[in-house]
Amino acid sequence: MIKSSVIAASLTLLFSGAAMAADDLSSMSPEQIIKHRHQAFHQIKDNAGNLRSLAKSGAVDQTKAKEYVAALEAASDRAFSSFVPGTEAGVADSEASKKIWQDPDGFKAAQGKFHDALGKVSAAADARDSDALTAAVGELGGSCKGCHSSYRE
Ligand code: HEC
Repeated sequence: MIKSSVIAASLTLLFSGAAMAADDLSSMSPEQIIKHRHQAFHQIKDNAGNLRSLAKSGAVDQTKAKEYVAALEAASDRAFSSFVPGTEAGVADSEASKKIWQDPDGFKAAQGKFHDALGKVSAAADARDSDALTAAVGELGGSCKGCHSSYRE
């Protein structure tokens, strides 16, 4: 009984959190959106760094790997959904290339590569396979560089 009400309460929090994030964006100025996006990208950077250190250590800590993957999923959802028109390079300190809006399919595909690599990181953690983890983390890093070289100025 107690347990189910705790779960219900956290689910409510989860959903209101998601709704709030969407609402927040629409009530933010372009400058605030860019700041919010940069914060999300810094969380991405930190957690990708955590995964790299984990892979280097050679021991696959499944719990930590999953924690970093979840943080990367949450931060990338926030980052990738915040490329709204009016926040391109030229506005505040945005480095978002105009190509993001000119080539939305290409930008989606670049996000897909990031998510695919993240899926491989997760699978490698489940399998406790350190070689696969190293390869997947390398692929994840490649997905950052790939997107940056096309869509970041
Ligand atoms: C689908 C495209 C895409 C992927 C994938 C991506 N990024 Fe980025 N990233 C961008 C764009 C576009 C910007 C510029 C955003 C801006 O200036 O508003 C950016 C900016 C950044 C910034 C700078 C934020 C700031 O304060 O100026 C960091 C750090 C960063 N990314 C890290 C990463 C890392 C690490 C990864 C991979 C683990 C990654 N990104 C994956 C598109 C991407």
